[in-house]
Amino acid sequence: MNVSAERSRAIWNAVDFPAPTLEAGITTEVAVIGSGVAGLSVAYELAKAGKDVAVIDRGPIGGGMTSRTTAHLSSYSDDGFRELIDMRGLDIARAWQESQAAAIARIEANQKALGVDCDFRRVDAYLFLARGGDPAIIDRELVASAQVGMIALRHGGVPFAGYETAPTLQFPQQAAFHPTKYLSALAKAVKDAGGRFFADSAVVSIEEKDALVTVKTAKGETIEASAAVVATNAPINDRVAIHGKQAPYRTYAVAFDIPRGSLPDALYWDTLDPYHYVRLQPGGDESDILIVGGEDHKTGEANDGNARILSLTRWMRELFPDLGQEITRWSGQVLEPVDYVAFIGLNPGNERIYVATGDSGQGVTHGAAAGLVISDLILKGASPWREVYDPSRKPLKTFGEFVKENATAVKNFAEKLSPGELSSLDELAAGEGAILRDGFYKIAAYRDETGALTLRSAACTHVGCHIRWNSFEKCWDCPCHGSQFSPEGEVLNAPAFSPLGEAGG
Ligand code: FES
Repeated sequence: MNVSAERSRAIWNAVDFPAPTLEAGITTEVAVIGSGVAGLSVAYELAKAGKDVAVIDRGPIGGGMTSRTTAHLSSYSDDGFRELIDMRGLDIARAWQESQAAAIARIEANQKALGVDCDFRRVDAYLFLARGGDPAIIDRELVASAQVGMIALRHGGVPFAGYETAPTLQFPQQAAFHPTKYLSALAKAVKDAGGRFFADSAVVSIEEKDALVTVKTAKGETIEASAAVVATNAPINDRVAIHGKQAPYRTYAVAFDIPRGSLPDALYWDTLDPYHYVRLQPGGDESDILIVGGEDHKTGEANDGNARILSLTRWMRELFPDLGQEITRWSGQVLEPVDYVAFIGLNPGNERIYVATGDSGQGVTHGAAAGLVISDLILKGASPWREVYDPSRKPLKTFGEFVKENATAVKNFAEKLSPGELSSLDELAAGEGAILRDGFYKIAAYRDETGALTLRSAACTHVGCHIRWNSFEKCWDCPCHGSQFSPEGEVLNAPAFSPLGEAGG
């Protein structure tokens, strides 16, 4: 993959799991496309049950969005239980909470069984009222938490300046861990059980015919399987059915050194929308690492990542003046499902192709839940949480939200007629990208640090929306369904699987 510009680096080390590319056709029982927490959780459950699995990824193993998560492990809904109950009803909300708690318990059991040191620990989580917020939010969530069966305690504030007596809910026994250490261990366990891995092998089609699923790579090699699981953050096998029910958002994170023991090890979130989220990670002998995140926006609708990091830093420093040196800053993408719950299960219209997407702000627990739900569906033909996550569901109560989210695609297609951002390539600074108009077409222009230009079509190769430049990540983002491309037009994130076309095409 040709990627000239450096993307931001998350605090986690990369998953160290080299794998070959797929160079010849193979057969297997289950093909897993995507090697983040959802793909590897499914692969692990199936391999443990004796299934032959093959995991294939467009990039390195574990190198996608899971490596950019901040990994808050909680069975509290980040959209709030009141909203979830109103949206899906009490029974589904209860079952969702139960499945998320089971997902955390499974991660805990897996890391123990595998003997992996991934810093897993049970910690309490705190939802605290943001400045100027309505205390009724906390009361409402206290009641809703009890309704769904999650223990929540009224707590007298959090250890942040000015919030010592803020209305707060405490959720005992949630968890935190190091996501890429965990992924490495899962991958190794799958391999030890006979599973095969293929990296840097972009999948371009997944077709189901009779009792066979054929997965084809860009090089033309195939995996033939009895079933396939598409776990590519945003599904590559779908053009409309699921993408019309979720929307991509960018979220930002920054990590700081803080003196060891200066903040209790816990998860913290406030009640703003978008909310701030804070957690700790063990550091060196003298320090802990504080990770703060938030400042989310719809993908492609802002290009001010560093200003958002500054805003996060100011907010955190006000609450915690002992904040030390910044270690790193990064962003990731989350797919917000319109009814707050991920899409996990049989892909609409298929009998042997499964999908896991719509992680919301809870990618790790949704990914681990995918491991439980999809493996049960494949091994037993049933899951107690099938209905909760059913990708074919029609979220009737969200019609207004549907229209709002889908307006992105409509607005975006209108952009075909609008002027470009620059009138001339001379205006393009080194290290930056911008959109120019060239007659009927729009061009994605990137000038690298040496001054060399790359010109590509500005039409996303998924279903044709116009991409936007992201200065913070040095990539092109598609606001419609979450595809990302390198400055040179190579695919970085699904659902697109083909590089940007020639300029003027
Ligand atoms: Fe669907 Fe770009 S991601 S059009």
